[in-house]
Amino acid sequence: MELLDKIVLPQSAEHIELLHYVLMLIFFLFIPFISLIFGGTFLSLWYKRKGLKTSDKNYLKFSREIIELTTINKSIGVIIGIFPIITAILVYAQLLHTSKSFTVIYLFLALILIIPALIFIYTYRYSLSFNEILSSVKNIESADDDIQSEFKRFSNSAKKMTAKSGFYGFIFLIAALALFFTGLNLASNPGNWGIGGIITDVFNFNVLLKVGFFIALAFALTGGAILFVFFYWNGGKKFDDEAYKNFVQKKALSITLTASLFIPLFILIDTIGASINNLSTSVFGYTTLVLIVLFVVYNFIYSMMKNADVKYSAHVFFLLIFAASALIVRDQLAMNHATKSHSIVLSAEYDKMLAELKGENKIAEVSGEEIFTIRCASCHKWDQKLVGPAYKDVLPKYEGKEAQLIAFIRNPVKVDPAYPSMPNPGLKPNEADAVAKYLLATYKTK
Ligand code: HEC
Repeated sequence: MELLDKIVLPQSAEHIELLHYVLMLIFFLFIPFISLIFGGTFLSLWYKRKGLKTSDKNYLKFSREIIELTTINKSIGVIIGIFPIITAILVYAQLLHTSKSFTVIYLFLALILIIPALIFIYTYRYSLSFNEILSSVKNIESADDDIQSEFKRFSNSAKKMTAKSGFYGFIFLIAALALFFTGLNLASNPGNWGIGGIITDVFNFNVLLKVGFFIALAFALTGGAILFVFFYWNGGKKFDDEAYKNFVQKKALSITLTASLFIPLFILIDTIGASINNLSTSVFGYTTLVLIVLFVVYNFIYSMMKNADVKYSAHVFFLLIFAASALIVRDQLAMNHATKSHSIVLSAEYDKMLAELKGENKIAEVSGEEIFTIRCASCHKWDQKLVGPAYKDVLPKYEGKEAQLIAFIRNPVKVDPAYPSMPNPGLKPNEADAVAKYLLATYKTK
């Protein structure tokens, strides 16, 4: 990403710290949202398939309601699904500036894939609602034959669109997430920067682990969101069908419980597998916190399953959101820790740049005498000719003509046929200046 390299400047240590907080904030938005989209799309497709197979109306209704609930609406999809990735690209470009990490490239690819993923998923969502409207049109049998066949064609193509778009959306989303986690994983493993290719970067145990971790979290959050929206938000949904209510309740509780039971397993593997450099006391602290929160969640769900009620729906949802946030903080701390040495390089670069701007690190005043000794004395003496003429012979003509002397030194021209030409000593303007001053001020006393 050469383009990004041009707009990225070295950052101060404080600023790098701030960038880690910015990342945390955008992940607080992005991870829960994309979890819902992922869990919602999968569950909706799954229940739609079951519904079509068993022709159980509850499945079909649940399928449609899940996707409506988890995708919220189109503009939110664009804002929370796409902008955080763009921001993450810019932040990582700063954090990993001058490193050989390909993180930014993977995030960019993830961005390119998440756009069609969201388009397909929102198409799926709206076409499901559309199908619902079409199938609720009654009295079509009493219409003209022409209208009837037109209507059939139309609703069939709407159904086809539904069937394909949901599936394509899900595939694109998986690919986008795999690349997203590849980028994140690479960022926290400086040991792998600049080595390996896309295959080893993507199909890598740590990436699989992160994706698995994400999937468990995504289903837990989706289940929690279903519980929350169906049974708590605004007093809960008004069910006119008690059987459907029980159906949703049972499904949502078991999805949430099953998925959240997997989370500690992934945390465990992740903690054991993490290279020891990435672990710090605070990472352990957050890990423990998440485990405690999950334990409370299990108890709430267990109680609701036992009593067949939905009393703790909101508790479960908010605790899961809290656990997800704590996991994000934990991951960022690990990344912060892992990239510490790179951050030090960056902030040192920043300090240097700042010093240059302030003019602090200009090379100490150039000394005319020193330049003379090093660059001129091999050919010139004060009162004897050597390779070049004695200074006492040639300098008097430059009295009061310092500028001309400087011009000669910077660009010697042929003067005296008795001598060979003087080679260009290649001095910088300030150096030529200093040595000319020194010669004019000194030659008479030598
Ligand atoms: C490789 C040898 C060599 C070095 C090194 C060298 N000079 Fe010279 N210098 C000469 C020669 C030869 C001449 C005579 C050139 C001519 O007359 O065309 C000369 C001539 C001069 C003259 C007289 C010019 C005139 O108008 O007659 C000055 C002044 C001078 N050098 C300054 C310097 C300074 C200052 C340095 C160091 C930064 C330097 N030289 C380094 C070989 C050297």
